[in-house]
Amino acid sequence: MTKSWKTKLIHSDAKIPAGYRSLATPTYRGSTTVFPSAAAVGDAWDQWRVGYTYGLYGTPTVLELAARICELESGTRTILTPGGQAAISLINFALLQAGDHMLVPASVYHPNRKLATRLLSRFGVTTDFYDPCIGGDISSLIQENTRLVWCESPGSITMEVQDLPAIVAAAHARNCRVVLDNTWSAGVLLDAFAHGVDVTMQALTKYIGGHSDLLLGSVTVREDALYQRLGAAQQVIGCAASPDDCSLALRGLQSLAVRLSAIESSAISVAKWLSSRPEVELVLHPAFESCPGHDLWKRDFTGSSGVFSIVFKAGPTQQQVFAFVDALKLFKVGYSWGGVVSLAVAYDIGRIPGRPSYDHRIVRLNIGLEASTDLVADLEQALPKLWA
Ligand SMILES: Cc1ncc(COP(=O)(O)O)c(C=O)c1O
Repeated sequence: MTKSWKTKLIHSDAKIPAGYRSLATPTYRGSTTVFPSAAAVGDAWDQWRVGYTYGLYGTPTVLELAARICELESGTRTILTPGGQAAISLINFALLQAGDHMLVPASVYHPNRKLATRLLSRFGVTTDFYDPCIGGDISSLIQENTRLVWCESPGSITMEVQDLPAIVAAAHARNCRVVLDNTWSAGVLLDAFAHGVDVTMQALTKYIGGHSDLLLGSVTVREDALYQRLGAAQQVIGCAASPDDCSLALRGLQSLAVRLSAIESSAISVAKWLSSRPEVELVLHPAFESCPGHDLWKRDFTGSSGVFSIVFKAGPTQQQVFAFVDALKLFKVGYSWGGVVSLAVAYDIGRIPGRPSYDHRIVRLNIGLEASTDLVADLEQALPKLWA
């Protein structure tokens, strides 16, 4: 068949040598996958079972990252989503229905709370927020229709470490599933499934990506039945992960161990210095006794990452706390964490129901890969702003 140059743009006969074996996983982009025949066309989402049918359900790059996260978390299957919050939404839409109730820690990542109060409430799902330090007493909050108990350990900003085995035992005794936001541990510093959790999610945006240049989430399950519900929901919600972002995350994985270990020791040095400062009332770092649930962290985690908070002694106004943050030169001001640049964000936590009354005195730090001595010097030159 002779072809016009216009057709050649689309259907080329150009040949390249076969057999390139890249050390790096290739980035397979694509929406359409080609079927061998008309009869073979089918829209099944489970690519592990049926082979590739459509890009939405994962190209080889996406499935490789999923399989590697699953391996690291010792789960059964992992599904990737376009961000951590999308992973949270997927779990709730897949596992809840009208009339169900769920329990969520008061310390949860705020958009997770907002999903429950602003959106799921419109679909007939009710939510109660519980004290993250409740442990096994959570059984008193479990109702006939409670289906999910969410955990996030440590909690966002206030850093409470939760008693996962006690919560799991209470929830399983009443037929509820336990879901854990496992982002802080990067899925490697806490073996969630060994502690009985049913579903974990991570914002891969943080430590797995590791360089603040992508948004990605993961949902990992212990049982195939949960995978079936999540996969079927992902198909109709249509939340596909980008192969380019997965490729970056695969690269991030390779340096995760060295980044985490450098970040851990730097964060501990900075936190130690802060705990010696007269301006600081509390260092909320799970590896420090001053952090709620420190003993549980010692029992359940194999290390710490680089996000923690400090609470200043009473005195400075919110404007003065802002002036301290603004005076920092190496620490940048911004959401998200887990990258190589240190960050600082001041919160007014007292306005959120069920959270400790630290009010405007709490600042969350993300420790990056700068020299810890420089980070300490940066904090030291900014602290006088609290009283300026
Ligand atoms: C604990 C936690 N979970 C989930 C998310 C959501 O992740 P993403 O920003 O990828 O949507 C975040 C983001 O800050 C987070 O801190």
